[in-house]
Amino acid sequence: MPTTRTRVAIVGAGPAGLLLSHLLAASGIESIVIDKRSRDEIESTIRAGILEQETVRVLTESGASDRVTTVGSRHDGVELRFDGQGHRIDFPSLTGRAVWLYPQHEVLKDLIAARLAGGQDIRFETSALRAEGIDSDRPIVTATTADGEELRIEADFVVGADGSRSVVREAVTGASRVGGYFREYPFAWFGILCEAPPSAHELIYSNSPDGFALISQRSPSVQRMYFQCDPDADPNALSDAQIWETLQARVPGTTLLEGPIFQRDVLRFRSFVAHELRRGRAALVGDAAHTVPPTGAKGMNLAVADVVLLERALRALLLENDERLIDGYAEKALKRIWKAQHFSWWMTSMLHVTADASDFDRLRQLGELRSVVESEAGQTYLAEAYTGWLHEA
Ligand code: DHB
Repeated sequence: MPTTRTRVAIVGAGPAGLLLSHLLAASGIESIVIDKRSRDEIESTIRAGILEQETVRVLTESGASDRVTTVGSRHDGVELRFDGQGHRIDFPSLTGRAVWLYPQHEVLKDLIAARLAGGQDIRFETSALRAEGIDSDRPIVTATTADGEELRIEADFVVGADGSRSVVREAVTGASRVGGYFREYPFAWFGILCEAPPSAHELIYSNSPDGFALISQRSPSVQRMYFQCDPDADPNALSDAQIWETLQARVPGTTLLEGPIFQRDVLRFRSFVAHELRRGRAALVGDAAHTVPPTGAKGMNLAVADVVLLERALRALLLENDERLIDGYAEKALKRIWKAQHFSWWMTSMLHVTADASDFDRLRQLGELRSVVESEAGQTYLAEAYTGWLHEA
């Protein structure tokens, strides 16, 4: 079997894996990135569009993307809408921070272009089968290439950046297949992309008696919108007219600008945190380590925060033989991960309507929303969490 040697074997060419290879390269640490998907598939998968200020800082300062600030747009607030009224949360006055709207697949295009220009070894259409020997200092990743050949990558360290169906996770968390704390939700999001001008300057998170809707954006002529639906909903079962009727009813008091719908999908909700994030010479980052429900767009931002911590730890381990940071990686990363889990769960439960909600539940939820928008402390918590907690210096 052909064997390749590298310092860090990174499984997964999503935002976490690619950013990690980029930061490691800047410290002179060589890596190989493999992903079972093709480059085209990776660059066209539609995901969320909100980047925290710290995420933007890491992407721009490291030279991974400058389009995030030239093509993306800064958002200084969001609207929470309930009981037929909108309430703006102003980020800069509450936190001194803002967020940027720049879709994740654009970040991926920038990262792939930057990595290939830097001579990074990225193997697309190469599926990891397993990670082994992670308790030794010569861990190995075995994979199958696009032409069906087996490939062995021998490394000093293995990183699982391979998403929610991570192969590396099994080695890190032990025999158990699930290997983590898990929660499901009784609803999903119906997402669309449409050709229309923006309906508002900023994003609208709307709670209505019929359920939640999020009015997001992509560009002056393309918009992204979502509405709460059944997890088993078929994205092709609704006509465009039915989709618009549902969306309009979910943002009472606002009229959405409509246009042709050219993409639709159903996103399932789950919360997950792996029981272990690191064992021996292997660690997990991004969705391999945790999944959050989409409300609040924490997924990629959390991945970037993991990567910043892990890169620092790998630098100390591989360049100075210092194990202290890698030994502290999981504990440090988990503190932010659980805060983000709480925030994503909280935004989700505060804004969505469940089928079994009683009148008490519904009125209590409106009380909760009022407690946030009518209190500077309430607004500040939302703004701090939404714009993201600062990374450690
Ligand atoms: C988007 C997705 C989110 O989950 C969110 O909270 C905000 C924006 C988006 O896709 O634009």
